[in-house]
Amino acid sequence: MTMENILLTIDGHVATITINRPKQLNALNTATIQELSDTLDDLNGNSEVRAIIITGSGEKAFVAGADIKEFASFSIEEGKRLSAEGHNKLFNKVENMSKPVIAAVNGYALGGGLELAMSAHVRLASDNAMLGLPEVSLGVIPGYGGTQRLARLVGMGKALEMICTAGMTNAGDAKSWGLVNAVYTQEELMAAANKMASKMAKQSPTAIGFALDAVRASVKANEGGFQAEIDAFGACFGTDDFKEGTTAFMEKRKPEFKGA
Ligand code: CAA
Repeated sequence: MTMENILLTIDGHVATITINRPKQLNALNTATIQELSDTLDDLNGNSEVRAIIITGSGEKAFVAGADIKEFASFSIEEGKRLSAEGHNKLFNKVENMSKPVIAAVNGYALGGGLELAMSAHVRLASDNAMLGLPEVSLGVIPGYGGTQRLARLVGMGKALEMICTAGMTNAGDAKSWGLVNAVYTQEELMAAANKMASKMAKQSPTAIGFALDAVRASVKANEGGFQAEIDAFGACFGTDDFKEGTTAFMEKRKPEFKGA
């Protein structure tokens, strides 16, 4: 498999995936999502691999979101498809892996970036990390599971505050809300992630697989929320606010929303 947007290393029982588009702050375009999806399938079937770390290349960003430039001209149907395929190919796949996935959040984790981190089983952050779901500042909503997974992690009140203000939180506050498990300096982050992954890799892989299934069972009943998110995400693509929000981002100016 040729991969242009991600790097993969396997050291003993620990695989590390690095999203590698640093000039675009590791934004998730469709090619990157496909490469991640294929790699996760391979790793799920590789019995040598017992724990997985996902991180971003460079010192600035884990992932700054879905690739806004790629979807700015999408129709309602294309928007819905983008969201549904993202759920299937990447975000649900990460959550449903048979081995633990640690997100090592080494900088901005915004929109689809925070959604990717929230799909992982554990989140470790560097002290420069900034986390948020800024989609409503673009005239769209979180479309990769964020409307469901953020509330699970921080409660509905905090989730709605973050989503409706489009605000970013720092790593310390994110830890106090339960959004990340622990915070390290940027230099220490990968060593800490590797230490945790190695500890996981020493345990019974079969028991861990069953434990992941059991813990996930608690949220399976609420999966209808994902379809509601996909439909609402698609609907945004038919609005003037969406056109204004994405155009303003690309023109590097503040949007002026009319509410239509
Ligand atoms: N998509 C596409 N390109 C992006 C991007 C994104 N999500 N985030 C950053 N980039 C690009 C910028 O356009 C810029 O590219 P150029 O040099 O070609 O202009 C490059 O990365 C560097 O970014 P900035 O110059 O903006 O860097 P900064 O330090 O001034 O700002 C930032 C950093 C605050 C993270 C800012 O880049 C930003 O706000 N990014 C967008 C964050 C965002 O809104 N994410 C949500 C995306 S929508 C989504 O994810 C939908 C979903 O749920 C499915």
